[in-house]
Parts: sequence; structure tokens; C-alpha cells
Amino acid sequence: MNTQSLTDTASKLVADDKGLLAMDESNPTCNKRFAKLGIPQTLEARRAYRELIVTTPGLGKYISGTILYDETIRQQKKDGTAFVKVLTDAGIIPGIKVDVGAKDMAGHPGERITEGLDGLRDRLAEYFQMGARFAKWRAVIAIGDGIPSRSCIEANAHALARYAALCQEAGLVPIVEPEVLMDGDHTLERCRKETEEVLRNVFIQLNCQRVLLEGMILKPNMVLPGLTCPTQESVEEVADITVNCLLRTVPAAVRGIAFLSGGQSAELASARLNTMNLRFNSHLPWALSFSFARAIQQPALEIWQGKEVNVSAAQQALIHRARCNRAARRGEYTGAMERTGA
Ligand code: 13P
Repeated sequence: MNTQSLTDTASKLVADDKGLLAMDESNPTCNKRFAKLGIPQTLEARRAYRELIVTTPGLGKYISGTILYDETIRQQKKDGTAFVKVLTDAGIIPGIKVDVGAKDMAGHPGERITEGLDGLRDRLAEYFQMGARFAKWRAVIAIGDGIPSRSCIEANAHALARYAALCQEAGLVPIVEPEVLMDGDHTLERCRKETEEVLRNVFIQLNCQRVLLEGMILKPNMVLPGLTCPTQESVEEVADITVNCLLRTVPAAVRGIAFLSGGQSAELASARLNTMNLRFNSHLPWALSFSFARAIQQPALEIWQGKEVNVSAAQQALIHRARCNRAARRGEYTGAMERTGA
């Protein structure tokens, strides 16, 4: 394992207050989002949309790395330039989603286990060859009556750690993503309890599998009340409980924490990240960053609508969200940025 290059890459992914742009939707997920907006669900539409993202002027000022999908890492611009080259030329590190999805867990109704370990060593070698320098694996943990179960948490944490160890062997920085879902009417406190349990298990397994903490990024959920919980706490309460949960569970050696957005609105995700950095930044051992998909892409996708004439306006919406989120890393994001687009 080349510990120096892993540590350097992990540091670059959180440097200069930049963050990650996740554009690693699987084809079914991407098609679902297209269908909602009446965009054709074709290979060419997916390619054109990803070209729009990677060619957004000035993206590298706010974004350190993008997470691609297997189809996308092999694609090119219309003029034949590989997306990986476009990104690298813009100073953006290409990354790749390597899990093959969360599947129903046998004997555990309502729970899922993420698959993709078989053959992973060979796939990672190929992705490294293609220019990827980091990878992502997402585990999903649902909250409900009697769930998550201990077995679901342990199985997912174990898979995350096996994946992370293989990534580091291949020279790729693992983004370790255990997502506690927002779906349901559970309280903020319940989300805190389950998130703490999940993170504790994840770090036990990461240590057990000898994963270099300095050469990884954690991608957790923010601690949030369930989407249908009648009590929705303030941005400040969410920021405090999230940071305290992370302080209890994430070792200081971890280079950075880059939140997923998980279905929050784009503005709320920026506001919550901003408040965490505003209140705690100087006391934290790790960078608090973003690795959003929906909260960074959705406004752009809605403007694009699959039409060439909307590309430039969609790119402006994308760069606006990227700029807002970099400001949130600095504790400088304000609602006024949304109104002025500044
Ligand atoms: P969201 O920000 O839409 O939750 O996506 C996160 C993710 O895992 C994509 O890589």
C-alpha cells in the first residue's frame, strides 16, 4: 500500500474548501430521475447530461473530485475527448462508484445489504488504469420498527471495510458511505442513536481490516429527523447533534468527512453544512465537506430538461450550487446568495 499517495489524494479531496460532486447514479436511478422530467431514458441522453456536468466552466474552482459510474467513466464528450481527461484537465480528480447496489437482506425484512465484493480487486485495477484515484461504496441503513438490526449493521460495516481495504491496495482512496436513511417518522434523537451505532461498527471493522484512516474519506448522513416526523428541528440543532455524533465516533486521523445530501433540499443541505462549519470549524480534527448528488445536481437537471438550448442555464445552476457549498465549508453561506445568485 502506498500510504503517502493515498494520504495525499485524501487531503486533495478536501483541500481549499472544495467538495465532491456525486454523479454516480446507476442507470436505473438516472433513468428514474429523467422520467420524472420527461427526459428520454437513453444512453445518449445520459451521456449528454454527464457532458453538461463535466464541461461546466469553472467547476474546478469549487469541486475537487467527481464520482462517476461505470458507464460514465468510459464515456466521452461529443468531440471524442474522454470525460476522465476533461475532469483531469480541469483539476478535478475522477472517482468511481464500485458497489453494485443494495439488495434485500435475506431473513431481514425491510433491510438491505450492499453487494459488489466478488471480483472487486480486478475492477479496481481497471478503474485505476482508466484514471480513477478514489472510489465509493454506499451502504444503506433504514430506521423503522425493530430496525436496524445488529446483523444488518455488522454485515454492511464489514462489507464497507473489505471494500476500503481493497481500494487502498489498488491505490484508490475509499469513500466510505454508511447512509442512515431519512425515510420515516423517527425523531432526531433516534437518528442520532442509530447513526452513532452504525459509525462505531464501521470504524471497528475498518480497523479490523487494517484500513489506513489517513487515506480515506467518510461520507455519512447528517443526523436528521425522519422526513415525516412532526418535529423538524432547527438548522442549529441539526448542526450541533450531527457534529457531536461525529466527534464521538470518527477518529481524528480520518482526513475528511463529506456528507451525502440524502433527499434534503439543496438550500437546506447548504445551510446545515454552513452552520456546522460556522459553529465548530476551528475545533474539529477533520474537514467537514460535501459529497452531494441531488442537492447539487437537481436544480440543473430540472433546467436542462434534456434540451441542448438549456445547457448553459443548467451549468449556471450547477456552478451556483457548487459555489454555495464551498461557501458553506467556510461558514460564509447566506440565504442572500440564493436570491442574488452571487
Ligand atoms: P445524495 O447526495 O443525492 O444523497 O447522493 C449521495 C450519494 O451517495 C451519491 O454518491
